[in-house]
Amino acid sequence: MIHPVALRFTASDAEALAPREGRLALIVPPEGKLGQMGRKLDRLTRGAVTRALASEGWGKLAAGDSLDLGFPGGLACETLALVKLDRRASVAEARKAGATVAKGLGEKGALVIAEAHPRAADISFGLALRAYRFDYLSEPKKPFGPVEMMVASPETVAAEAAPHAALAEGVFFTRDLVNEPANILTTDDFAARLAAMHELGLEVEILDEDELEKLGFRALLAVGQGSESPSKVVVMRWQGGEPDAAPLALVGKGVCFDSGGISIKPAAGMEEMTMDMGGAAVVAGVMRTLALRKARANVVGLVGLVENMPDGRAQRPGDIVKSLKGDTIEVVNTDAEGRMVLADVLWYAQERFAPAAVIDLATLTGAIIVALGHDHAGIFSNDDKLSGDLLSAAKSEGEGAWPMPLTPGYDPLIKSRLADIKNSGGRWGGAITAAAFLKRFIKPDVPWCHIDIAGVALPPGESALAPKGATGWGVMTLDRLIRTRFEA
Ligand code: BES
Ligand code: MN
Ligand code: ZN
Repeated sequence: MIHPVALRFTASDAEALAPREGRLALIVPPEGKLGQMGRKLDRLTRGAVTRALASEGWGKLAAGDSLDLGFPGGLACETLALVKLDRRASVAEARKAGATVAKGLGEKGALVIAEAHPRAADISFGLALRAYRFDYLSEPKKPFGPVEMMVASPETVAAEAAPHAALAEGVFFTRDLVNEPANILTTDDFAARLAAMHELGLEVEILDEDELEKLGFRALLAVGQGSESPSKVVVMRWQGGEPDAAPLALVGKGVCFDSGGISIKPAAGMEEMTMDMGGAAVVAGVMRTLALRKARANVVGLVGLVENMPDGRAQRPGDIVKSLKGDTIEVVNTDAEGRMVLADVLWYAQERFAPAAVIDLATLTGAIIVALGHDHAGIFSNDDKLSGDLLSAAKSEGEGAWPMPLTPGYDPLIKSRLADIKNSGGRWGGAITAAAFLKRFIKPDVPWCHIDIAGVALPPGESALAPKGATGWGVMTLDRLIRTRFEA
């Protein structure tokens, strides 16, 4: 795991510009007006800065993008990036500007000249989020060098940026988990990484197969019974709020590999199913952030960790299992496994913790990708206030989220001939019938949101604040929701 890049906020110092190596970045408003540091850079480069800013290329740049001058005369740096950003820029634009600087970051680090920009802290946050790397190359890349940011009032900006450090750690933790291959991130390994968060002050409890069997997690165990990796449920508790206040429960799908089971998936693209524990990874990342920033809220995170494999012992299509709730499930498709895992963990969360609200996250369906592509997660809810708060939290963090229907009209599609319910409603409205299945395992008065993150957890290309690979979608949104709704 790489840690977020080291950030330092300092006062503007004109003498430090010329000898600075690595990447230099100057934040410039669209009209090209230079501050004191900008004018100094212009003099040192004999007017290259003002010429660049007068060019057609500068005019065409979008907010947060940059014009890069390579090996500029008069300066020791490799590139001088002129980053276009208005003083009235949005949070998203400021973070994008930071990400633009991070894209060219190397071992020598960067100096960002933000002077009195009011969104300097968000620029640094975007930079930290984009300066992420994950690979198994035998010849490791050199680590990113440190980043210094020159601002008008270093103490104020540092204070504003402080909570971002915990958030970036949480996002990186989630991304690492999603990026890990399934031979490394087994159910045991995943549980061990969660147990290690005990050091941060989280209470972590691991329920093993024997305990799950005793408790009656038959639906979850059925999914994992064809795998050599033992199924587990991990419970993480953060008690930063009033001792007797009902907690928020976060529940995550943690399918470490989803082959489809006996209803096996086609070979093409199956390797992507190492990310099918993405919901559990977001829950873990949020819990990490809450502990690191000592959140004043009670939150319990529960993840169901299993592997879905075809085997002599694997569950079959047509099997009927009894869930923890007691409802019977006909398994018409062993590839619709996530909802079986969630059914038991959702029920357990409500029975044991009587939560004030429940939010589950899951890479649940391909159908949500058909519906929303890779820009928005699908939000299903039984409570307009909770989903409204969630959607506005997502909006302020720049993470795409879109409401989906959860009306009773879909319920007949998952009626079973033999059992209380079947685990697939077929092709049409697949993301909605999956949510309708989960709804059956939510108690009548419990506010609940289900977030289908299949499209946003590991999109096919790079995204605004992440290189190609896992995004960590949701950690920022849930942290914001907890701040606004549970930490008054
Ligand atoms: N893990 C998949 C959903 C998925 C697909 C996640 C693509 C990420 C990318 C899930 O377990 C699954 O297989 N869902 C099936 C359900 C169907 C069998 C009812 C699907 O979406 O096809
Ligand atoms: Mn599946
Ligand atoms: Zn799955």
